[in-house]
Amino acid sequence: MKIGRSLHRRSGRSQLELISLSPGQTQNLGAHLGRLVQAGDILLLVGSLGTGKTCLAQGIARGLNIKDYVLSPSFVIVRELYGRLPLYHIDLYRLDRIEEIMDLGLDEYFYGSGVSVVEWADKGLGVLPAEHLLIEISYLSLNERSFRFKSNGKRYRQILAELRQLSIKKVRSSCS
Ligand SMILES: Nc1ncnc2c1ncn2[C@@H]1O[C@H](COP(=O)(O)OP(=O)(O)OP(=O)(O)O)[C@@H](O)[C@H]1O
Ligand SMILES: [Mg+2]
Repeated sequence: MKIGRSLHRRSGRSQLELISLSPGQTQNLGAHLGRLVQAGDILLLVGSLGTGKTCLAQGIARGLNIKDYVLSPSFVIVRELYGRLPLYHIDLYRLDRIEEIMDLGLDEYFYGSGVSVVEWADKGLGVLPAEHLLIEISYLSLNERSFRFKSNGKRYRQILAELRQLSIKKVRSSCS
C-alpha cells in the first residue's frame, strides 16, 4: 500500500489517497475500515466497472467479523450481513432513475444500527445522506487502484484521521 504522492501533497485534513497494488491489499484496506467503523457510518463507493468496490466491501465485511462472502453486484440491491455490527451492502448499479433509489427506503439502513456501504453511489448522490465518507476508486493499471477518501462531516474527518495514522504506520513498517 502506498500513500498517493500527488494528492498527499495537496491533501488537507479532509482527504487522503492510498494506492493499492493488489486485490489482497484492497481487502486489507477494507478490513482496516471495517475495524474502525461505528453504527450509523455511511461509506459511499464511486468508481467504474471492475475497479474494486466489491473487493473493498469484502474487506470491510472481514473487518466487521462477518463470515459470509460478500457477493458482487446486481441481482440483489441490498444485502444485510451480521458481524460485530450489521453491514448493509447496497449496490445501485441496476438503478437508473433517482426515483427508483428514493423508493428503496434506504433511510432505514442509513439511520439504523449498522454500517452502510453503497456501490455506485454516484447514481444517487443527490438523495443519499450529505454526511458520509466518499471513496473514489480509479483504475491505474492491471493490479493498481487509487482510493481517494473524502470526508463530509465531523465523524468522517475522524475516520479519515484514523485511516491516515494506520496507513502511515503500515507504510513505515513495510519500508523498514
Ligand atoms: N488492487 C486491486 N484492488 C482491487 N481489485 C483489483 C486490484 N487489482 C486487480 N483487481 C481486480 O479487479 C476486479 C475488481 O472487481 P470488483 O468486483 O471488486 O469490482 P467492482 O468495482 O465491484 O465492479 P462492479 O462495478 O462490477 O461492481 C477483480 O477482478 C480484482 O481481482
Ligand atoms: Mg461490485
